[in-house]
Amino acid sequence: MSGALLETRALCKSFGALDVARGIDFRLDAGARHALIGPNGAGKTTFVNLLTGLLQPSSGCVLLHGEDVTRLAQARRVKRGIARTFQINQLFRGLTVLENVCIAVAERMGAGGGMWRPAGRRTEVVQEAARLIESLKLDADAGRRVGELPYGRQRLVEIAIALGLNPRVLLLDEPAAGIPSAESHILLDAIAALPTDIAVLIIEHDMDLVFRFARRITVLVGGAIFADGTPEEIAANREVRAVYLGSALDA
Ligand SMILES: Nc1ncnc2c1ncn2[C@@H]1O[C@H](COP(=O)(O)OP(=O)(O)O)[C@@H](O)[C@H]1O
Ligand SMILES: [Mg+2]
Repeated sequence: MSGALLETRALCKSFGALDVARGIDFRLDAGARHALIGPNGAGKTTFVNLLTGLLQPSSGCVLLHGEDVTRLAQARRVKRGIARTFQINQLFRGLTVLENVCIAVAERMGAGGGMWRPAGRRTEVVQEAARLIESLKLDADAGRRVGELPYGRQRLVEIAIALGLNPRVLLLDEPAAGIPSAESHILLDAIAALPTDIAVLIIEHDMDLVFRFARRITVLVGGAIFADGTPEEIAANREVRAVYLGSALDA
């Protein structure tokens, strides 16, 4: 595998006079377990929005498999393999876990139309949904309504749905936010254990989770990359410790 799976070059974004992305050169490799960290307001969410196409950059470009996708709409990027989960809950709360995941898989397969779908195709959808559910250790909840599940498990369902799109790249903006720490470890371990052909970029504040999950870390400060490296390099970086990690790693 040569080159990056997803890459940005000199990516810039301004909101009026505020420069939120300042010349970001970033690469996400195939199979990556990559964390993006930095203080509140650093521009992390904006950066993910630029990757997905929710926002257009002021200048610079986004490349997927070396191909310029900067001007592609969000839906087109999803079709090419860039999936994300949102912080906003988008699940059908009255439907079961299995039903929710089936809807995502059926959408991707272009198998809408419910009862008119050939039975063989329907079996394929259910089998794939069941496999995804199992991969996130949600099997015991497959028949339960999403609205009845604890919040942490609902986040896992969101991830199952994103995986139903069969992505090459999965972007997760604070997936563990609002989850008790015991559950957040389960969540992050499930994400870490995803098939290695899926590259994962995660924004996360909990440094325990970040250092347990990531094989590469990028530190964003004031819209620019402040440091980038292996967890060991980032932990040993005095400037990063001074501006962001503080005493979080000294304990
Ligand atoms: N749509 C917007 N319009 C104006 N300013 C914005 C918009 N979105 C984000 N910002 C500002 O951009 C900066 C970076 O925000 P954000 O990307 O959400 O940071 P982070 O996710 O790192 O906390 C913040 O100062 C925020 O107020
Ligand atoms: Mg954010």
